[in-house]
Amino acid sequence: MIDIHCHILWGVDDGPQLPEETEELLNLAKAEGLTDIIATSHYSPYLEQVYEEKFEEAASVARSVGINLYSGCEYKLQDALLLKDRLITLAGSDFILVEITSGVLGDFVYNQVYDLELAGYQVILAHPERSFTPADLPKLRKLGDMGVYFQITAGSIAGKFGKQIQRFAFKLLEEGLCHFIASDAHNPHSRAFFSSEAKSILQKKELTPQAINLLFHENASKVLSGEPSIRSFSLKRSQPSSRKLFSKRGRRLS
Ligand SMILES: [Fe+2]
Repeated sequence: MIDIHCHILWGVDDGPQLPEETEELLNLAKAEGLTDIIATSHYSPYLEQVYEEKFEEAASVARSVGINLYSGCEYKLQDALLLKDRLITLAGSDFILVEITSGVLGDFVYNQVYDLELAGYQVILAHPERSFTPADLPKLRKLGDMGVYFQITAGSIAGKFGKQIQRFAFKLLEEGLCHFIASDAHNPHSRAFFSSEAKSILQKKELTPQAINLLFHENASKVLSGEPSIRSFSLKRSQPSSRKLFSKRGRRLS
């Protein structure tokens, strides 16, 4: 499994504060069956300043545990727009991880996302099941039509954020508004990976091995290699489907 959203660098955000905590998280990841992790700490001017050093320190611990670590960042939409000429993309690809704060999904959001797409980025929306409610579904569908990808948190599927969020996560899966399942892990206790727990819940919901592989591995592997052929999976459909997406210059590919 590949994790595209994980707060693994220590001392830069609300993730681990000490190298020992990072090491504990990495050992947990290994036990969960994760092989590759993208380090997506919350953006701050401080993070930007120390990113290289902090990343290299954590990557060295990851190597000793047997996990490949890649650079990345989690941006609030407003920050991503302000910094769009120098964003830390996921594993050096065109993909960026963006969170949109609850309650600000107004019509201006479409223009802002489009601005990022025109700048050459492919936008992955972090944890929509935790930021929004079922009332926002039409807007989320519109973002999906614009080429935005969706990352659902494994802990949400596993019920760690409550029944309401778990139900909405399943609803997004039904709608085909899920391309990645990632951990958003912050610490080894309350905010760990829960990847294998989420996987077994989805197996009980009769997702095929092919669908599970798509959400936990295949699409993420395309982020690592910078391939633009991300696919969605809908619980309503029996097969994953390809979808249109914006190319580097904002044109649509087939
Ligand atoms: Fe996060």
